[in-house]
Amino acid sequence: MKIGARKEFCGEFIIPGDKSITHRAIMFNAAASGEAAVTNALMGEDCLSTAACMRALGAEVAVEGDTIRVRGAETFRDAECYCGNSGTTMRLLMGLVAGRNVNVVLTGDPSLSARPMERVAKPLRLLGADIRTEGGKAPVTIGKTKLTGREVDTAVPSAQVKSALILAALGADGETFVHEAVKTRDHTERMLAAMGADLCVLGNAVRVKKSRLKCADVEVPGDISSAAYFMALGALRGETLCRNVGINPTRTGILTVFDRMGVEYALENKRMVCGEPVADIRVRKSALKAVNISGDIMPALIDELPVIAVLCAYAEGESVITGAEELRVKESDRIRTTAEMLSAFGGDIREREDGFVIRGKKSLLGGNADSHLDHRIAMSAAVALAASEQGGEIRNAECVNISFPGFYSMLG
Ligand code: S3P
Repeated sequence: MKIGARKEFCGEFIIPGDKSITHRAIMFNAAASGEAAVTNALMGEDCLSTAACMRALGAEVAVEGDTIRVRGAETFRDAECYCGNSGTTMRLLMGLVAGRNVNVVLTGDPSLSARPMERVAKPLRLLGADIRTEGGKAPVTIGKTKLTGREVDTAVPSAQVKSALILAALGADGETFVHEAVKTRDHTERMLAAMGADLCVLGNAVRVKKSRLKCADVEVPGDISSAAYFMALGALRGETLCRNVGINPTRTGILTVFDRMGVEYALENKRMVCGEPVADIRVRKSALKAVNISGDIMPALIDELPVIAVLCAYAEGESVITGAEELRVKESDRIRTTAEMLSAFGGDIREREDGFVIRGKKSLLGGNADSHLDHRIAMSAAVALAASEQGGEIRNAECVNISFPGFYSMLG
């Protein structure tokens, strides 16, 4: 895919539905009683993988435009579920099917099959789950056992791990407490509460009691992780307005980074939609300052770090990002692939084991880079190239369909 250099970039964008929320709306309704409509659903490949898995387990899931209609399955059937590229699908399903009296095998594409699954399997076994991984990775096999509630800690700050435990706890006898050291995105807690789960959030802990879920309609807000590319282009080259974007505080780390980098932005038309805060985000061209990012903010911006690295490459001064080792186990090793991409365009970026050091420049020349089949690397590269002097080309560019079908035409 060729990306031309853009001296100016201005426009209004309607951002596709949130990936995390779409996954959950399909999956949880498919495990509940009744019927529901999920509107403004993301039709990305990852969410379609979740839909296919829930069908394999016995739910009815029909796609009509950007609405997904779900009829829940009272009980699941034995199945092999192909999760494609989607870590959220595989990890949440591990918790959802454990304790539901089914034999399930979860498989994925080569990228997903290389990602760590014991971080979910291990705490689920503490509840009594029968889960086997192959050397810590997929395929993951889940057998029939009864689960018992207890206190568990998540070893890594991961909403996927926390969500899997909460889902398993819904079918476990007694009470489960899930503790996390750092708060991660809480879409699971919000949605399950709206579906009748007996669940209570106490600081960084969630108490869950055995519950049956009732289907609930969900209107999905736009995904701030997708808006981030157009927000970044506004900051670099003009003015952008991204409409209807979810601003759940567990997801808005990028706005905190904008504050620190001196990015001019405004949240307009703030409102609540289906229990999630939403706004239109306006971003104006700004003189960018280098930034240090580390610590507890990481889960709130983990998916945005590649595009934040692009902003740092255009900022004045040296930015240091540490404590981001989770990037090494995403769809690609995003520390390596982000560094490779920005270096190819003329950026000055050094890898650290847990992040990057980026010395900003007034401009980048541009050039060619590979996405390594990672959607967020492809879109970050597109932003870097659009803001560069000469533009360039992205190889394996079509992987954006994982989370943002239509990305290149919106950019055009
Ligand atoms: C997600 C959580 C994050 C994020 C991923 C989606 C979710 O992963 O990177 O894109 O929907 O729960 P971790 O929870 O593993 O950090």
